[in-house]
Amino acid sequence: MPLPNLNDLVIAVVGATGAVGAEFLKIVEQRHPNLYGLKLLASARSAGRTLTVNGREFTVEETTEDSFKGVDIAFISASTEASRHWAPLAVAAGAVVIDDSSAFRMQEDVPLVVPEVNGADVTWHQGIIAIPNCSTTPLVMVAHPLHRVNPIRRIVADTYQSVSGAGAAAVNELKEQTQALLKGHPVTPRHQPRQIGFNVIPQIDAFLPNGYTREEQKMIDESRKIMHAPEIQVSATCVRVPVMVSHSAAVHIELTNHIEPGIARGFLKDMPGVRVLDDTTQGQYPLPWDVTGQDDVFVGRIRQDESNRNGLALWVVSDNLRKGAALNSIQIAEELVDRACLKPGSTPKPKFRVGEPENPAEADRRQDYAYFRANVDELLPKYRDKYVAIINRTIVDSDEDERSLEERVHAKYGREPATIVRVTPGPRVMSLYRQHGVQVGVGSISL
Ligand SMILES: NC(=O)c1ccc[n+]([C@@H]2O[C@H](COP(=O)([O-])OP(=O)(O)OC[C@H]3O[C@@H](n4cnc5c(N)ncnc54)[C@H](OP(=O)(O)O)[C@@H]3O)[C@@H](O)[C@H]2O)c1
Repeated sequence: MPLPNLNDLVIAVVGATGAVGAEFLKIVEQRHPNLYGLKLLASARSAGRTLTVNGREFTVEETTEDSFKGVDIAFISASTEASRHWAPLAVAAGAVVIDDSSAFRMQEDVPLVVPEVNGADVTWHQGIIAIPNCSTTPLVMVAHPLHRVNPIRRIVADTYQSVSGAGAAAVNELKEQTQALLKGHPVTPRHQPRQIGFNVIPQIDAFLPNGYTREEQKMIDESRKIMHAPEIQVSATCVRVPVMVSHSAAVHIELTNHIEPGIARGFLKDMPGVRVLDDTTQGQYPLPWDVTGQDDVFVGRIRQDESNRNGLALWVVSDNLRKGAALNSIQIAEELVDRACLKPGSTPKPKFRVGEPENPAEADRRQDYAYFRANVDELLPKYRDKYVAIINRTIVDSDEDERSLEERVHAKYGREPATIVRVTPGPRVMSLYRQHGVQVGVGSISL
């Protein structure tokens, strides 16, 4: 049977007239120019408006119980209350829901997915797949490539979030307040807890009894769930700033072992969907103004944390309406189609408790790589000019080539080695061929 194609499906967009919905339709035009099976839905307020997508006019309809008949995938990006109301009805009508709100994210039976990090989690959905909060997604995009080679112990993230994260009305509010304040007129906040024009607000969403805001708690809980890493300690301070689009974050990451910023930069460069823009000699670092409209999560200011030998400090910027919301949703749909798992429950939920490593082999590889990095000083002189593989926290060395070593390790241990490296002459320099089964190509890295 041929694999389904997104262009053959009927896709409903609940919230098509909102800030995320508008970006969603732009991305459809860029990534799927032949997709015509669209149903644009909103509240009664926008019913009857027409929107053009892929050269065709679509009339926005009010969302009702009947809206989901014949729909294959329903994107819901309206409000948490709307998601709670419409998602079960869409699932009952036979659609897979990709939900942008916080309504279902932490439910045990709902995968919370950033495809580059945990795309395989889409396979066990029961009808609803959630996308993370727009600050969590960029955080896990930069944390994951580091975590899989050097387990992360602690993350502290302080965000600088744009007003579009609070919807189209909040964008208009910033424009209006800025104009009024420039004319010397007083302003009354409507969509933010305090004045946002020429100000910053250390509150996004409501306060919880622990003193954190809901937005901050989302970053803590969601990043652990996506990375299958409940052991990581996370703290966040989320701040609204007078920026239209794109969220920024100053992120401090403590790893198990020391890692040179240059090596971390290499792992980040290899991560699909992450772009490193980091040359302070040229004044190069990502800015929200420049990142707006781009798909990648940008990272710069990558440096050793002066207060922690095993720590890194990073500056992360991403378009909250794209990777933070609409793009991530579309990538989930693509993942569902590629993996042919549109039908709920087509794959049983894996045995791991949500928050545990996906499979034991991956956990082993992580440990092996951490072992290698921790002992690199001792290992480099000993194995100079040899190919070495790390498996079960021991070193297998060989004068043979990389492939025969891999085959030997596989035959003996039944799995891929964490790392195969050729330790080359020259102090603290080696060619790194492969980390824990991920092909990275041949390159030279200074240790
Ligand atoms: N903005 C972001 O960066 C971001 C990132 C991640 C997640 N999210 C989440 O995405 C959702 C939408 O955010 P947004 O920024 O796009 O908000 P928005 O600009 O305020 O747009 C809301 C959209 O939802 C529609 N809507 C409202 N109530 C509805 C209902 N009961 N039934 C059907 N449609 C309804 C609105 O239609 P009308 O035109 O008829 O009012 C509008 O199209 C929220 O859950 C938000 O938390 C947003």
